Amino acid sequence: MAVTIDPTKTIATIRPALHGQFIEYLGECIDGGIWVGPGSDIPHTDGIRQGVLDALNELEPPVLRWPGGCYADTYHWRDGIGPRDQRPTTFNENFGTYELDDHAFGTDEYLRLCEAIGAQPWINVNMMTGTVAEARDWMEYCNRSSGTELADLRAAHGHPAPYGVQLWGIGNEPWGGGGTMTAPGYVAAYRAFASAMPRFTGSVFETPQTYAIASGPDGNKPRERVAWTRDFFRALNEYRQPPIHGYDLHFYNWNIDHEADTPTDFDEAGWDRVIAGCLELEDVIVEQWDLIQEGLAGVPQPESTLEPRLESIDLVVGEWGNWHRDAFFARPALSQQVTMRDAITTALTLDILQRHADKISIACNAQTVNVLNSVILTDGDATIRTPNFDVFMMYKAHRGATALAVEPVDAASGAHVFASVAEDGTMLVNLTNPSMTTAADVVLEFPSPMRLDRRQTLAADSPTAHNTAAAPDAVRRVAEALSGEASPSHTVHLPAGSITVLRIGQP
Ligand code: AHR
Repeated sequence: MAVTIDPTKTIATIRPALHGQFIEYLGECIDGGIWVGPGSDIPHTDGIRQGVLDALNELEPPVLRWPGGCYADTYHWRDGIGPRDQRPTTFNENFGTYELDDHAFGTDEYLRLCEAIGAQPWINVNMMTGTVAEARDWMEYCNRSSGTELADLRAAHGHPAPYGVQLWGIGNEPWGGGGTMTAPGYVAAYRAFASAMPRFTGSVFETPQTYAIASGPDGNKPRERVAWTRDFFRALNEYRQPPIHGYDLHFYNWNIDHEADTPTDFDEAGWDRVIAGCLELEDVIVEQWDLIQEGLAGVPQPESTLEPRLESIDLVVGEWGNWHRDAFFARPALSQQVTMRDAITTALTLDILQRHADKISIACNAQTVNVLNSVILTDGDATIRTPNFDVFMMYKAHRGATALAVEPVDAASGAHVFASVAEDGTMLVNLTNPSMTTAADVVLEFPSPMRLDRRQTLAADSPTAHNTAAAPDAVRRVAEALSGEASPSHTVHLPAGSITVLRIGQP
């Protein structure tokens, strides 16, 4: 048995935004992690920790979602603009953070960070304790080119040019911390927020530059998520539709039922359980995509030619990642170490997202720094790239390539497989061996002779291996140039619990 990789069997272009990241005022993600402040002894650029800035510049996340998460549900953007010594102090109770909040990192700091690392911003507005007017004003502050009070205020704060924020999320998890709403209740509120969004165009016939993202279901609740999406569309299809481009599903890989299993101490059963857990996302994506199509089929035909019929909505996965039990008790809140086990699930999750590139427009890892499934940890003045960082780096070349239809699991070896092809015909093949103990050999077959050019491997001596300030490179990817013969068939050896990315070219 072999895995056949045929570059003509294409699925869709892998939008770079599938490799997005998410940051929130939670634990030490922003305060103490990304943001150390201009007075800090820790090296920084304008208050942003230099180590984090350098790591993000390497990673080049295409999208950076902010300010939450649950935090967004109580965030008033005006608290975070203007001179820092005049910003109010509030209390941050988000997910057990329980800290005073001085709002030092606000809209301008965030958008300048996005500019510095080349990430597209995604701002989530407060629809629980905020108002439609407040959200609309936030958009004005960010995007109106000049002339209005809010555009002038932004200029006075040092950014005369509009930021051009296109991605706007309306509400966050309204079924939970975002208001424990019902789907029809959420749709009623969504209609007002989305309809009030400024268009930032020159004429009513131009396509608005804003991409409105509605909250989708809790991906971890099998019954509720189906009911939510059906009820959402029932309410949306009553009367006219407001602007809506994305539908944001959240999915965490919960590992919370086994007290003895910690992020860095687990047995083989824990390894297997967590890896199996992340795979559920694939079914959830297919299920939700089908429900979206079912909902769109029920959109009524407008009675006027001036109103285009709503024909499509993209699926978005705004938050995903492993969530281990210990994170609930951790200080700083929701901090978690990242081992090879997490790296494997990160790789498999990215494989799933890329395989469904025809359905998903944006996805964000939760979260970037010091919270849950981090790519970066900080410890004092140290910045540590986690094994997840390496996975994102190894997968970077898939951005903009075309996903290929390949059998996702090789029956012979148990290895997970994903492949893409770039415009110049170069293929990238991901091979993940999910077995904690057993190495595997995978046979790859191509319709014509191909040459293995380069291999990157992420593996470790121990499944619990992770990076710390004392050993920042304990788990690091290894790259090697290959110079073998062109052949229609190649056998690739995969160490136990490892991730391999092969670059494959024509002879
Ligand atoms: O990422 C942590 C939290 O998880 C977010 O604030 C919330 O949206 C989700 O429940």
